[in-house]
Amino acid sequence: MLTGKRILLIISGGIAAYKALDLIRRLRERGAGVTPVLTRAGEAFVTPLSVAAIAGEKCYRALFDLTDEAEMGHIELSRAADLVVVAPASADLIARMAAGQADDLASTLLLATDKKVLVAPSMNVRMWLHPATQRNIAVLRGDDVRFVGPDEGDMACGEYGPGRMAEPLEIVAAIEAMTGEGPLKGRHVLITSGPTQEPIDPVRYIANRSSGAQGAALARALRDLGARVTFVTGPAREPSPGGVDVVPVVTARDMLAAVQAALPADAAIFAAAVADWHVTNVSGSKMKKDGSGRPPALEFAENPDILAHVAGLKKDRPALVVGFAAETDDVEAHAAAKLVRKGCDWIVANDVSPATGIMGGGENAVTLISAAGAENWPRLPKDEVARRLAARVAAALRKPADAGAPGGDA
Ligand code: C5P
Repeated sequence: MLTGKRILLIISGGIAAYKALDLIRRLRERGAGVTPVLTRAGEAFVTPLSVAAIAGEKCYRALFDLTDEAEMGHIELSRAADLVVVAPASADLIARMAAGQADDLASTLLLATDKKVLVAPSMNVRMWLHPATQRNIAVLRGDDVRFVGPDEGDMACGEYGPGRMAEPLEIVAAIEAMTGEGPLKGRHVLITSGPTQEPIDPVRYIANRSSGAQGAALARALRDLGARVTFVTGPAREPSPGGVDVVPVVTARDMLAAVQAALPADAAIFAAAVADWHVTNVSGSKMKKDGSGRPPALEFAENPDILAHVAGLKKDRPALVVGFAAETDDVEAHAAAKLVRKGCDWIVANDVSPATGIMGGGENAVTLISAAGAENWPRLPKDEVARRLAARVAAALRKPADAGAPGGDA
C-alpha cells in the first residue's frame, strides 16, 4: 500500500504516455496522491484534461506560469512529494537530466528536487542502445537515480528489443520499494562482492578477474525490494550502488571481519570471488630481482572460508545463506557437492570458462541448486539474474520454513 504517499509524476513525450494514465489509477487505488506534470512533448500523446481527470488534481504544464508560481513555486512542487517518478522518460528528457538542464518545468523540478527519483525509460530500441543514451543512464545511476525497465518486446515503431516502458504494475512495485514498502521491508541482507586482493609486497598483490557486477546488481535488486543491504565489497571495477551500506575491504580476512561485524542478517549472499590463499611472508619493501635468476619463494596459508563459516554459525546464522560457485567444468556436480560441503541453503552456479565470457561480462547463465534439486536459468543480463534471485530471496524469507526449496516464480 502507498497510503498517504505523494508521487510527483512527470509524463514526457512517447507513445507509452497512455500507460501513465493507468499508472496514476493504480497508484491512487493504493492510496497514493499523484501530482501530474506533463511536458510539451507529452501533450502530443495525452491531454492535460485526461491526466488531471484521472489524477483528480491539477496537471502542471509550463515552466513560467505565473499563477502557479504564486500558488506553488517549482521548488516547492519538487519538494512536496515523497518520490519523483518520470514515466515515460524519453531519451531527450533523460539526456537533459544527465546534463543538469533546467529548460522546462519537468527538467527544472528534477534539478530542484531533494527527493529520490525513479525513471521508467521509453524509446525506440536504437535510441536506447545508442552509446549517448547508455552514457546518460550511467551518469544518472551515479547520481543515485533509480530505473525501472525498459522491457524488451515488440515496439510501436515495428522494431523489437529493449525500449518498451515497464508495465504500470512493475513501476508501482518499484515505487513501493523506494518508499520503503517492498516485500523485504524491515529485512537485512548481507552481500559480499568483487575480488579480494592479497598483498605480496607494498605494490604487488594476488587478485582475480571478478568485476563485482553480479554482486552490485544483486545489491540493487534487493535494495529495490525494500531490504536494508550491507554490501561488503573487495576492490571491484563496478561502482557500488547507492542506497546501500557499503563496507570496502581488501583481503579475505578483512572481508570475514566485515561480515562478522554486519551480522545478524536475515539473508547472506556470498557473491565475492575470494582468494583461497594469502601470502604469509609479505615483504615490507618492494621485492627486487637479486640477479641470481631465482624467483622469490612465496609462502601461502589458506584464507578463512567466509561462506562456510557463516553457514556453520550456531548463533546468528542467517535464515538463508546463499553461495556462488564459479566452475569451469562439470558445473552442476561440483556445485551440488559445494552446497553440502559449505552447509549453505542455495548455490548459484555458473560456468566461467573463458569461452562463456561470463567472468567480467554483462551476462550470466546460472543453475540454482538447493536441497530440492537443480534449476537451469537461461543466459540473462546480470541485472535480470539479480532481480530473479532477489524475488526468490523475498519469497523464501516470507516462508522461512521453505528456505531449502527455491520455488517461486523466477
Ligand atoms: O570454494 P569456492 O571458492 O568455489 O566457493 C565459492 C563460494 O564460496 C562463493 O560464494 C564465495 O563467495 C564463497 N567463498 C567465501 N570465502 C572463501 C572462498 C569462497 O566466502 N574463502
